[in-house]
Amino acid sequence: MRISHFGMLILVVGMLGLEAATATIFNYGQALDMTFLFFEAQRSGKLPANHRVKWRSDSALKDGFLQGVDLVGGYYDAGDHVKFGLPMAFSVTMLAWGAIDFRKEITALDQMGNTLWAIRWGTDYFIKAHTQPNVLWAQVGDGDSDHYCWERAEDMTTPRTAYKLDEYHPGSDLAGETAAALAASSIAFKPYNSSYSILLLVHAKQDELLWAAAWLYRATDDEYYLKYVVDNALYMSGTGWAVKEFSWDNKYAGGLMYVREWNNLQYASAAALLLSIYSDYLSAANAKLSCPEGQIPPQELLNFAKSQADYILGKNPKTISYLVGYGTKYPIHVHHRGSSIASIFALHSVVECVQGFETWYRRSEGNPNCIFGALVGGPDQNDNFSDDRSNYEQTEPTLSGNAPLVGLFSKLHSVYGGATGRDLSKRVSTVSSISRKQF
Ligand SMILES: *[C@@H]1O[C@H](CO)[C@@H](O)[C@H](O)[C@H]1NC(C)=O
Ligand SMILES: *[C@@H]1O[C@H](CO)[C@@H](O)[C@H](O)[C@H]1NC(C)=O
Repeated sequence: MRISHFGMLILVVGMLGLEAATATIFNYGQALDMTFLFFEAQRSGKLPANHRVKWRSDSALKDGFLQGVDLVGGYYDAGDHVKFGLPMAFSVTMLAWGAIDFRKEITALDQMGNTLWAIRWGTDYFIKAHTQPNVLWAQVGDGDSDHYCWERAEDMTTPRTAYKLDEYHPGSDLAGETAAALAASSIAFKPYNSSYSILLLVHAKQDELLWAAAWLYRATDDEYYLKYVVDNALYMSGTGWAVKEFSWDNKYAGGLMYVREWNNLQYASAAALLLSIYSDYLSAANAKLSCPEGQIPPQELLNFAKSQADYILGKNPKTISYLVGYGTKYPIHVHHRGSSIASIFALHSVVECVQGFETWYRRSEGNPNCIFGALVGGPDQNDNFSDDRSNYEQTEPTLSGNAPLVGLFSKLHSVYGGATGRDLSKRVSTVSSISRKQF
């Protein structure tokens, strides 16, 4: 193995001992369906007629106008309203990766339309943000001022400062990440919409950096992907992944991989996706992973990925699902502005910046709008979790935490079965068959 971080991860997994798959069957198809609803809830800009999250409406329709550029669209990052380029690009790459490697599985669940739309809401925005070959708008909204207000996206009054990268303000990590997202999405779209696929590739090539090149030639170098995701998780976490940062509490069945206090589940979901993909690569090569501790067969990697997903869905000491809306017990005080304030369709008057904190943020009742499919930050290293709106480390969802779930749930559904997600779609909503066909 050439991949050092991956090697470390596996080493830890190996040392801790892998449990055999258990009999618990979760409905991964339903969990997958919900995951897309989270991406819809995070949409910024003008919403389409078939938008399923009924408590959301159009927002931030003038993003970029002050700067003379159209930056309307894209995704809000988490419980706030900043559009951060880096995690958005990372998330789109994760979605595209799922769409490429688990195309068969996603298609069997009739979810390729939703997957491509989730990707496209990001890539349409990246295309707008890439106004010239060497100009990329990196961020809209300012983290500090945004956090002073607790308002709905539809009422937003905070400054929509926009930041750009160009020859005077370089940012090769973001440019490369965006190019990788565009290149990966181009591969994902290729069988479905060749003109869009080509358009994505044109933009990706203009930022021809290492990441993008790797994605363009992915077929020749599979290991590159593994390093890619581990490195991304690495710099997104701000510090290196090292063996000592993992801890595994064997006291509980299905202990959760633990990396960081703040939003730990996003690292667990990325690692689980990585392992499920790698397990497929090993199976295809009829190989096993070699570690100092011995050989790990592909099935055990998948079992580990399943254990992470099952923990998320409720197989944990709190018997709570960290995917909002799944099962009967899940967080109801999610740290998310839109979810925690009555919908603009229910409460027509404007909820102002400070009023939002007083009236909505501090109330003890659960959120008025259930944000289906949001993966919250999750528990601490003792599997303890406090469902409290002010506990943003544990109750805030993020795009980057959710994105790997698409590939992961579709793979687990194909291997372990479970009902499909269609029952939920009936409940939450209706995407017309026409709109489903277009991406
Ligand atoms: C678990 O969290 C609850 C609620 O925040 C807290 O009261 C309790 O002390 C915590 N327990 C442990 C073992 O950390
Ligand atoms: C393909 O993408 C283009 C935009 O590039 C869009 O106008 C068109 O409707 C899409 N085609 C299909 C079949 O979805």
